[in-house]
This record gives sequence, structure tokens and C-alpha cells, in this order.
Amino acid sequence: MKKIGVLTSGGDAPGMNAAIRSVVRSCIYFGVQPVVIHEGYKGLIENNLEEANARSVANIINQGGTFLKSARCAEFRTPEGRAKAFENAKAAGLDGLVVIGGDGSFTGAMLMEEEHGLPCVGVPGTIDNDIFGTDFTIGYDTALNTAVEAIDKIRDTATSHNRLFLIEVMGRDAGFIALNSGIAAGAEEILIPEEDHSVEKLMDCLENSSRAGKTSSIVVVSEGEKIGGVVELGRAVEESFPEYEVKVTVLGHIQRGGKPTCADRVLASRLGVAAVEKLIEGVSGVMVGIRDQTVVTTPLKEAISKHNAIDDVLLRVADIVTV
Ligand code: F6P
Repeated sequence: MKKIGVLTSGGDAPGMNAAIRSVVRSCIYFGVQPVVIHEGYKGLIENNLEEANARSVANIINQGGTFLKSARCAEFRTPEGRAKAFENAKAAGLDGLVVIGGDGSFTGAMLMEEEHGLPCVGVPGTIDNDIFGTDFTIGYDTALNTAVEAIDKIRDTATSHNRLFLIEVMGRDAGFIALNSGIAAGAEEILIPEEDHSVEKLMDCLENSSRAGKTSSIVVVSEGEKIGGVVELGRAVEESFPEYEVKVTVLGHIQRGGKPTCADRVLASRLGVAAVEKLIEGVSGVMVGIRDQTVVTTPLKEAISKHNAIDDVLLRVADIVTV
């Protein structure tokens, strides 16, 4: 391995900068030339590559977003797009590629390796925590803390006005952000895609809360939850629950921004080192992740085809503490 490229792809996540920094500096440590690729796979197709040094990644460990920028690239999903990307990688002398992103980005990496033989290693970077093969993805801890801080603030005003708030959090089709931020912020009910819910069940829960003397409530709704969008749900609740004033808040992209937490910076630093070490050892077609505090590898194929299950213990905890 003489040259390793690194790119960020898919939705950005706090801690991606720390991961890029780690990859670049690990390359330098092991005597490999790092090459940064701007704007994800689009940058590889458009030949937007640049040789980096240790100073290229100075003062970014504490910054949210990704200084390399990220993109969801339709052209890279075609064999022609990947061929163009590979030609540029070859011309730049890349012997390996580190892809920081989520499952869509890993699908691209896997195809690139299968079709063109470019060794690729994935680093899981997404706020959703929905990647199989790792207990935590880079950005998830920061997003959780952002969500909890926002929900806490909403609770203040909900309490002052005896209001019921439905708060939508991100997570695509996974409920990790909703379940954990909901428990941490003391939500009365948490709706996640992995569980069956109904408007009736939600009403029962709210009625129980009201009978228990609660004058305001917080319902955390995962964006992928299946009984309908949060706005429609809010309308349905309002109709059957006239004693509450119902408000809907969508937290949205604030969950993707902000300074990465310590946990995300350390995770990103560990996984960046591991990704470079794997490529140097001749291991590729894998994602590096963290399981029980230990760095592990999972074939990219498995990482993209399997899903992490929601922890039943946490579901039980949520049920017990919301009485
Ligand atoms: O995967 C991260 C994520 O923020 C999801 O939680 C959300 O569904 C999606 O990306 C939003 O994507 P975009 O930024 O393209 O609207």
C-alpha cells in the first residue's frame, strides 16, 4: 500500500471529520501517502482528489459536518459511473480506499471492489446507528445528545402550558435515536418502526398518563414509524384528546450538526486507525466497527444486508419508567 484514498459519503454525521483526520494521520504514521477525495463518490468520478499531509486535517477533530463534503451520487450507482471513478483512482495511484458513510456508501464500496478490484474498507458514519456489525456508528452519540437537549427544552414549555408535544426525531427506518432519546428525556410514549403501534394504543397511553395526574406529555416519534406521519398523528390525537393542546415539532437536520461528542471523536479516531491497518494487512471488503469495546470487522455484504435489532431490555425499561 503506497497510497490510500478517503472519502465521506451519504448523509453527514458529527465525527466524520475526526474519522478523516484519523485515516490521514494513520497513513502518515505507517508511511502511506493519504489522498483526500472531495464530495464523496461524485468527487472520485470528477477527479476531485488531493494528496494530504498531517496539517491538512489540523483543527477539525472538534468540528461537525465533513470538510470533504458529502453527496449521495446517482452516477456512482451505475456500472459506467463506477468505471469512471475507478479510472481516476487508478490514475491517482490509489491502492486502497476508506469509505466513511452508511449502508448506501458501503454498497458502492463493495461493488467497486468486486468490479474493479480496488480494496475498500468501510467506516460506519451515520447518526442512525442502523449499521450491522457495530454497536455504535460515528455521529449517533452526538445526534442523541442533540435530540435530548432539544426535547428537554420542549418539555419546559410543554409543562408551562399543559401541552402535549409529538416530537419527530430522525433515524430513517430505525428507531435507535427515538428509543434512546425518548428514555433519556423521559418521554411518555415512544413510537419506533420496529414495534407495532396504533393510534388507539397511543390514546390509551395518553389517557393513562392523564389519569395518573400528568398535565403535559411528550411523545417521541421516529420518522420511520409506520402509523402515519407525525402531523397526521397530531391531528388524530387532537381530535380524540380535546383536553390537551397538541403541538408537533420536527427536530430535523439539527440532529446532523454540531460539535461531535467525546464518544464520537474517540470512536472515529479508533475506527480510522483500524481501517488503515486493515488495508495495510491486506484485509478489504469489510467494515470496521466496535463490538463490546473491541474493534471488529464485518464483511461489507453482511453490514449492508443485516440489521441491528432494537434491544428488548431497553423497550422494557421504556415501558416501566413511563408510568
Ligand atoms: O441517514 C441519516 C439521515 O439523517 C436520516 O436519519 C434521514 O432519514 C436522512 O438522513 C435524511 O436525508 P437528507 O439529509 O438527504 O434529507
